[in-house]
Amino acid sequence: MTTIPVIDFSKLDGEERAHTLAQISKGCEEWGFFQLVNHGIPVELLERVKKVSAECFKVEREEAFKNSKPVKLLNELVKTKKSGKVENVDWEDVFLLTDDNEWPSKTPQFKETMKEYRSELKQLAERVMEVIDVNLGLSKGYIKKVFNEGENNGAFFGTKVSHYPPCPHPEKVNGLRAHTDAGGVILLFQDDQVDGLQILKDGEWIDVLPVPYAIVINTGDQIEVLSNGKYKSVWHRVLSKPDGNRRSIASFYNPSLKATIAPAPELLVDDQKDIKKNEMELTTTYPTFVFGEYMNVYNEQKFLPKEPRFQAVGTV
Ligand code: OGA
Ligand code: NI
Repeated sequence: MTTIPVIDFSKLDGEERAHTLAQISKGCEEWGFFQLVNHGIPVELLERVKKVSAECFKVEREEAFKNSKPVKLLNELVKTKKSGKVENVDWEDVFLLTDDNEWPSKTPQFKETMKEYRSELKQLAERVMEVIDVNLGLSKGYIKKVFNEGENNGAFFGTKVSHYPPCPHPEKVNGLRAHTDAGGVILLFQDDQVDGLQILKDGEWIDVLPVPYAIVINTGDQIEVLSNGKYKSVWHRVLSKPDGNRRSIASFYNPSLKATIAPAPELLVDDQKDIKKNEMELTTTYPTFVFGEYMNVYNEQKFLPKEPRFQAVGTV
């Protein structure tokens, strides 16, 4: 069976450092997705996160979901006995958490717990970014610096608490339609009972199987650009399921909207060609752009192929 790599992050600082770096490198280059275990986030905190997330959905959203757009559109489709799928909608409920948005949930302990969780996850994201720096041969801290450019500490760190309620006709609607992620590094704490996340690898959809307490890491479009295409952002989707309410908590470490994104200059040299240093050719198919402009394009085209997004965004 094909599964994405599961990597013991605690081995990064010991005798198996080289091996662990190589596993992560392979995860980024060949898969675009991997799971970290022993990542240092306390299990006790993850348990609290599970509890408050389930409660806030139950208390604040479950009832309203029954009258939501995806439910109405699915009911209509079933009533008219039309074949095909419900388009342009996801069978998903979302709470979005950022540092400065108004807090979207009043469930007791939700805010405290999620603040603590986000602070841990942000640190984990920065450690993963440093590993990517090293693996790409960039100076340690390079990606963080690029993402924070233009604003002191301006990188965007968001957390999306999602629930995918049970769906009576899972073949007729997606939990979340296929896409690549816009930003930098994404860290996902997914349900350990209900699966549904799949990635596209070599033309086939592969399940990202739940591993208890693991954090699933994937890289977005900005890492693809920065790595000059070495680490491709990978298509993924969530299937809706007939049984169980799937929880997934995705945290995004993205550039500041003002940051300029471009392939790292060190990675522009085409080392396939044995050319003398002064004749080195600079090769890239990626533009240089301001991340906020990329997001404007992405917000219109999230569920479409990514290449036209790179073409549509203005070169600076
Ligand atoms: C996303 C995403 C996956 C999931 O929010 O971009 O891919 O399992 N989520 O919810
Ligand atoms: Ni995604």
